Amino acid sequence: MGLIDLHCHLLPGLDDGSPDLETSLQLARDAVNDGVSHAVVTPHHLNGRYVNHRADVIKATEDFQATLEAVGIPLTIFAGQEVRLSDRVIPALDANDILFADADGRYMLLEFPSSEVPHYAKNVIFSLQQRGITPIIVHPERNKEILHKPELLGDFLQSGCLTQLTASSYLGTFGKEIEDVTTRFIAAGQGTILASDAHALSHREYELGAGMAKLEKQFGPEVASQYQANAKALINGDLVQMHWQPLRKKRKFLGLF
Ligand SMILES: [Fe+2]
Repeated sequence: MGLIDLHCHLLPGLDDGSPDLETSLQLARDAVNDGVSHAVVTPHHLNGRYVNHRADVIKATEDFQATLEAVGIPLTIFAGQEVRLSDRVIPALDANDILFADADGRYMLLEFPSSEVPHYAKNVIFSLQQRGITPIIVHPERNKEILHKPELLGDFLQSGCLTQLTASSYLGTFGKEIEDVTTRFIAAGQGTILASDAHALSHREYELGAGMAKLEKQFGPEVASQYQANAKALINGDLVQMHWQPLRKKRKFLGLF
């Protein structure tokens, strides 16, 4: 088995991931070349721009899997969603219009708005947890409020959330500040998995393999293996335990004076 990618935008024509089948096939080839064998395909859902109903995503995933097999691309895909945190999540859940990172509906990929951590975030997360769902906060390092106050992520880990860090963030594709914060999260044990979040856009290419290679080089093979084991546990709906610490303060020489 190759890498498991729990967050990518490969399906054609559903969101900003890929405009057409040809592009989706190229992305799938990129995924395979990057070392990915299994991917949860996660179009945006309820993010203010895209609504991708559960049944539509399942159908699109089946169709795309059939095409992948027909053209001989060895990638196994599963239907998922990247769900935007809002007051629409719980009603959508009650209407059975949500897809998860696993078949049993235990782990939800939850996206905060990019600019802030909404004041109602903890209430929605608590409501999800009451329903037996564990949110995986996707790319917290790309949220502006968390980027400027990274200690905030610890509050969500404390309340039982997991985290998905984006490989490109860790590699510096989105700039040094995001790379540094991602590295601090990893160093403190605050990352659960790396994922590609691949789109057919510039700067959103498949970099999961490179991200895992950097993880192994910087933090050692045990940490890289743990990230892969976590991805496997999540896609199987198995328990994942986090052993994390609060972030270490950044040391600044000038801070002494
Ligand atoms: Fe995404």
